Amino acid sequence: MSKFNLSGKTVIVTGGGSGIGASIVFAMAKAEATVHLLDLSIEAAKEVSGQAEGKVIVHQCDVSNSVNVENVIKAISDDNPIDVVVNNAGIAHIGNVETTTVEDMQRLFNVNVMGVYNSIKAAVPFMKQNGGSIINMASIAATVGLNDRFAYSMTKGAVYSLSLSVAKDYLQYNIRCNTISPARVHTPFVDGFLAKNYPGKEEEMFEALSKTQPIGRMGKPQEIGDLVQYLASDEAAFITGSDFTIDGGFVKLNS
Ligand SMILES: NC(=O)c1ccc[n+]([C@@H]2O[C@H](COP(=O)([O-])OP(=O)(O)OC[C@H]3O[C@@H](n4cnc5c(N)ncnc54)[C@H](O)[C@@H]3O)[C@@H](O)[C@H]2O)c1
Repeated sequence: MSKFNLSGKTVIVTGGGSGIGASIVFAMAKAEATVHLLDLSIEAAKEVSGQAEGKVIVHQCDVSNSVNVENVIKAISDDNPIDVVVNNAGIAHIGNVETTTVEDMQRLFNVNVMGVYNSIKAAVPFMKQNGGSIINMASIAATVGLNDRFAYSMTKGAVYSLSLSVAKDYLQYNIRCNTISPARVHTPFVDGFLAKNYPGKEEEMFEALSKTQPIGRMGKPQEIGDLVQYLASDEAAFITGSDFTIDGGFVKLNS
């Protein structure tokens, strides 16, 4: 069997209907996992599952709704023990403390933090017997000051630290928990952001955003998918409580 193969593993990926999540689904399905794709948009989820090479089962699920998450995860575990949970669903927000409203704070917290909590809380009881791997999507915003990312950074900092707590508490159950912290990755979110905020100047701004990574470009969603595949695999058995920056040098090489 080739390295990083996920054959026989039951995997959950939240927010798998677009961008980074879709690439995670593609990588894991190709590595022979049975992938359960949870997304707010069932249409997007179906489109991704239709393009995947391998087994992908779709579920409509709002990660911020604890009852919804619990029901979906329980139904999945009734069929097979859960081996891997990838908490990727997340939403962005632009603003500093003055322009961020109470509603913005709550919306970001509900999806980006409560969504991760809901999913881990529902899955961990079913993972305790056989162990497994939990991979949470943080961001460089968790540990670096970025302009106008007040609410978003708050949520990603929480994802980073709650992951350390889970890693520590479940060492004895052989459940590993790690975070991934990408810099800018070229997803539909970036194109939408440019179209909305810089109409007519999309190409110029795309170049400028690309250059904020010292390596000179944005990340590709597949590069995150491949890292997730590795962290989910048995080859990564010695890794827990770690954060993986995947950032083209953004954090350490930008001075
Ligand atoms: N794109 C980047 O540059 C970048 C950088 C660092 C971190 N991230 C993180 O990576 C993750 C994915 O980002 P992306 O750019 O691929 O985003 P995206 O907007 O392309 O995709 C997000 C997916 O999550 C789903 N989703 C949103 N809210 C949901 C909810 N409440 N319940 C279930 N599903 C929900 C959406 O329907 C969508 O399919 C996010 O957590 C994001 O914060 C992205």
